[in-house]
Amino acid sequence: MISLSPNLKNKLSQPLKIGSFEVKSRVLQSPLSGVTDMVFRRLVRRYAPDSMMYTEMVNATGLHYVKQLPKIMEVDPNERPISIQLFDCRPDFLAEAAIKAVAEGADTVDINMGCPVNKITKNGGGSSLLRQPEVAEAIVREVVKAVDVPVTVKTRIGWNDKEITILDFAKRMENAGAKMITVHGRTRAQGYNGNARWEWITRVKEVLSIPVIGNGDIFTVEAAVKCLEQTGADGVMCSRGTLGYPFLVGEIDHFLKTGETLPPPTPIQRLECAREHLQALWEYKGDRGVRQARKHMTWYAKGFVGAADLRGQLSLVETVDQGLQLIDRAIAQLANGYELEEEIESNLALV
Ligand SMILES: Cc1cc2nc3c(=O)[nH]c(=O)nc-3n(C[C@H](O)[C@H](O)[C@H](O)COP(=O)(O)O)c2cc1C
Repeated sequence: MISLSPNLKNKLSQPLKIGSFEVKSRVLQSPLSGVTDMVFRRLVRRYAPDSMMYTEMVNATGLHYVKQLPKIMEVDPNERPISIQLFDCRPDFLAEAAIKAVAEGADTVDINMGCPVNKITKNGGGSSLLRQPEVAEAIVREVVKAVDVPVTVKTRIGWNDKEITILDFAKRMENAGAKMITVHGRTRAQGYNGNARWEWITRVKEVLSIPVIGNGDIFTVEAAVKCLEQTGADGVMCSRGTLGYPFLVGEIDHFLKTGETLPPPTPIQRLECAREHLQALWEYKGDRGVRQARKHMTWYAKGFVGAADLRGQLSLVETVDQGLQLIDRAIAQLANGYELEEEIESNLALV
């Protein structure tokens, strides 16, 4: 049985204030490269209409040279609250990109200072900024000067175990003008391994005045409540827990607002969601969308007999119709299984 302490309840009844911008939910959907496009965000928002969502990270240098707005930066005029996330190490390019982000409809602009991927860090972006705090400060200052929406930062606790620099780093970001910071409780060296060290989020919260969002290992309502209670964070951000499960942010938000736990979706409901996701990705991106949908569909197909086989088949689909047929067949089989179960139960009742 999960419950909220009176202190936490009181805090959760207030909106999350990101500078001048207010959000009516304390649960956020993280930026996930290759995942949080408009289609995915629309699914998450159906269950979590008040939550802040993030685009995939957008390369500011790319934006400077290409000029054309990439698809990953597209925002539906009706989807709010929304943050566009940027990455780079050049303050001038980031400021320029932030102006474009605001023109596209961003309510806040987030700077990625946590990505561990070599391709990004060797060019001075993502988590390598943890080792260049002066550059990170200059970035925040320039971007704050360029736009009139709140600027936020998402980062990790440090480069590695010998360089856990988050306390000094977070304070610098606040002083430079960041209006919120999200802390993923892992070092860059950890990648996605080991546990997220929420104790560092607690410590960041103790030294900052701006909102602090806890991130890392929020896979369930229980984990979200535990993280909020343990760290005193102003909100939680869900990431890998939403892969193939766009219900998570809404489930947590619902619990924090009402104290009620929603029943989890059935395997059939998950597959119906996979179907809708595939169809929408195809409509939005064509064949490229179908290729991108493969991984999503395998994430949805879990928790029933035959799921492993289905995942194998879904990972190979070439066309939208192939994918839809596989999902429809699996839904029909599951539905038959349920009918059979009901029949057995009613027969047993007669015995
Ligand atoms: C597939 C994938 C893509 C990601 N893309 C981004 C990104 O574009 N920007 C970002 O700030 N973090 C990104 N992250 C990191 C997550 O937002 C999050 O910080 C991390 O997964 C920790 O949370 P978790 O333990 O709940 O997954 C990504 C993570 C994954 C697994």
